[in-house]
Amino acid sequence: MRIFSGIQPTGDKHLGNYIGGFRQYAKTQELGEAFFCIVDLHSITVEHDPRDLYERTLDLYAMLLAAGLDPNRSTVFVQSHVTAHAEASWLLSAVTSFGQLGRMTQFKEKGDVREFVSAGLFTYPVLMAGDILLYRTDRVPIGDDQRQHLELARDVAERFNSRFGETFVVPEGIYPEVGARIMDLQETTRKMSTTGGTEQGTVKLLDEPDVIRKKFRLAVTDSGREIRRAADKPGVSNLVDILAVATDCTPAEVETAYEGKGYGDLKTDVGDAVVAFVTPVRERYLELRGDEPELRRLLAGGAEKAETEAAPTLAAMYERMGFVARG
Ligand code: TRP
Repeated sequence: MRIFSGIQPTGDKHLGNYIGGFRQYAKTQELGEAFFCIVDLHSITVEHDPRDLYERTLDLYAMLLAAGLDPNRSTVFVQSHVTAHAEASWLLSAVTSFGQLGRMTQFKEKGDVREFVSAGLFTYPVLMAGDILLYRTDRVPIGDDQRQHLELARDVAERFNSRFGETFVVPEGIYPEVGARIMDLQETTRKMSTTGGTEQGTVKLLDEPDVIRKKFRLAVTDSGREIRRAADKPGVSNLVDILAVATDCTPAEVETAYEGKGYGDLKTDVGDAVVAFVTPVRERYLELRGDEPELRRLLAGGAEKAETEAAPTLAAMYERMGFVARG
């Protein structure tokens, strides 16, 4: 089975990214042949700082390796290193519906809050469809917010297949289980996020241990005293979930262990547990990130593997669409 996922090199990565994303990827590589793509071409669809893009691309790569992705086992690469992605995107735009692109909620949401809306923001899902389809991907682990984009990729694959002949595998999404969503520690009904969340409520993976402990100490819990997961107690539920993940047990076990205890105990313990949980990742990250030539050498290997896999699909696309191959 083929698995493909893309991650944008933007924003400081946080505990939610790690628990719901990177850590899952490391498990996903056990399921089959996995491709993890740092989607730098997607990151220019909203205004970006060139220096930032450069640094964050390498930051993210080091972070993915630190989180357990094995470059020998999986193909981990940068999207712009494999030119097939940009080419596929153009070819696929011929079988993408303009109307469907206009209905993408992410386009509407991101477009609404900007003065300048780039054409790239609009065609973003076409590039994403190409990412997935080039590798004849079976399964795509993604967040719930990407469901509509995956639907579009499936539609594009089907339209291409029916117009030009069977070329693409129609991919399916793998969505995180409920509970794999980590919420902001301050605004407990919002997902933890470096763009939409609060500074105090977002635990960054590279926060110093004392900063992490403090953020948990100040976490918003809810009224009532009982430490139980409940719909009307999103703050408590979130802390219980995080502690369960960090200590590798179930939320129910956490609840039992905290029977009769107060929120103060819970907050201190979650803080300590998260520090212990992320410290090895942070240390490994810092070590890897310090050696840029080595990171780039490893990335070149990833690009080569990815290119080898993407090339035949791209060639088939050109051929079936009627292009004359260069003699
Ligand atoms: N749009 C995805 C996001 O923002 C990133 C992405 C780009 C992606 N290409 C992909 C995810 C291909 C899965 C497969 O999260």
